Amino acid sequence: MPVPSMIAIDGPAASGKSTLGFRLAEALGYLYFDTGLMYRAVTWLAIHHQVSISAEAEVTRLAEDVPIEVTAPSQADGRVCDVIVEGRDITWEIRQPQIDANVSAVSAYPGVRQALTRQQRRIGLRGRVVMVGRDIGTVVLPDADLKIYLDASAEERARRRHDENLQRGMPSDYQEVLAKVIDRDRIDTTRAVAPLSAAADAVILDSDRLTADEVFQKARDLCQP
Ligand code: CDP
Repeated sequence: MPVPSMIAIDGPAASGKSTLGFRLAEALGYLYFDTGLMYRAVTWLAIHHQVSISAEAEVTRLAEDVPIEVTAPSQADGRVCDVIVEGRDITWEIRQPQIDANVSAVSAYPGVRQALTRQQRRIGLRGRVVMVGRDIGTVVLPDADLKIYLDASAEERARRRHDENLQRGMPSDYQEVLAKVIDRDRIDTTRAVAPLSAAADAVILDSDRLTADEVFQKARDLCQP
């Protein structure tokens, strides 16, 4: 078996997909592409343009019309890429709690998904890519050479997200983070279009009792020819 060229990593909020995806892409010399940031950028656009999150048609139009630029990192402040929309660097703004609270509603709109999936597929089909999200193995790249579904309990994921917030100097309350993680899981797994689920042929990794290094090593082993 050759080294997989198209690698899909899916899983729920804060399961460690981005950390794993970034390290794996680096080790293989592949492009790392985080699809969540596109849904976050559309959410940011709606809020920035004072479009109500419940205005499906208007939010969808933003997803269809506004290009989201993802470029190499311009600053060494922990970012893995720059996210530019309408000439503005929104890399960190899209990680704010207000975006977390609204992104799952935006990503449930079929038109938004259609617009973003089209762009993601174009990038993914070039190969030599690690693409991370919720529906990569099931919808965006169903023919991916390797599919990983990274899971962990809601409590463990909330603890990680809470620690991350504190490290970034953001105020954080564990119980609140846990409630939000559970709510986002609920919306992501129950939406009508492309709900979060493991592809039938995905390798499931449960990271509850594994360190980030151990998860990486297991994924790396799956890439051996
Ligand atoms: O990093 P975290 O897991 O918290 O979130 P993310 O990967 O940045 O994704 C944010 C939100 O975008 C998710 O909760 C999903 O609602 C949505 N999303 C999606 O629907 N499909 C994807 N391929 C990626 C993200």
